Amino acid sequence: MFYMKITLIAGSNREGATSTSILRSIESLLNAQNISVTFVDLRELPLPLYSPDAQAIHPNVQRLAEAVADAEGLVLATPEYHGSISGVLKNALDYLHGGLVAGKPVLSVSAAGGPMGVSSLLHLQSIVRNLHGVNSPEWISIGAGFHSFGSDGHPSDEGMRGRVESAVGKFVELTRKLTAGVKAAI
Ligand SMILES: Cc1cc2nc3c(=O)[nH]c(=O)nc-3n(C[C@H](O)[C@H](O)[C@H](O)COP(=O)(O)O)c2cc1C
Repeated sequence: MFYMKITLIAGSNREGATSTSILRSIESLLNAQNISVTFVDLRELPLPLYSPDAQAIHPNVQRLAEAVADAEGLVLATPEYHGSISGVLKNALDYLHGGLVAGKPVLSVSAAGGPMGVSSLLHLQSIVRNLHGVNSPEWISIGAGFHSFGSDGHPSDEGMRGRVESAVGKFVELTRKLTAGVKAAI
């Protein structure tokens, strides 16, 4: 039996962000399966603006890099801003490189003011592809009318709850298969 480690990155710096709330719901689904979760909330772990010229590594950047390096899979959550991902998340992803993400499954999650945040998800999947990560077969978007959460921390809407469970299930299955393959090859 092996223990899976997943890192979740919340890409909003807004208090009470829906994208962070849905990530907390996903964290609890993963915990229920005895999966070890590291939660990186970019509101609580602000990063300096990325510059290729920077000499010293900021301690918060170090924490982000360690959390990503240590994980077998990643879940990235973003608010949909002007049809794309947040600057906060893009800035964090600019610090990463293929060596940290290559071959790891990544589940993309968005929160949007409109019916669905598809543009941000597509952009996120493109960034994942360029970091040589493996996009999970399903994604999650919390659109208008689905922003409320129950006292258990999960989406109030039953249908949305089911979609989140399904997407997380597929992501965990993919991570398990890829991790088992890597371990078998060593
Ligand atoms: C600067 C800005 C741009 C936005 N652009 C879009 C957009 O293009 N499409 C959309 O559906 N919602 C848009 N919204 C609404 C947000 O996606 C919505 O408020 C969402 O809940 C934000 O995520 P959060 O709750 O995780 O902060 C925008 C909001 C802001 C502040």
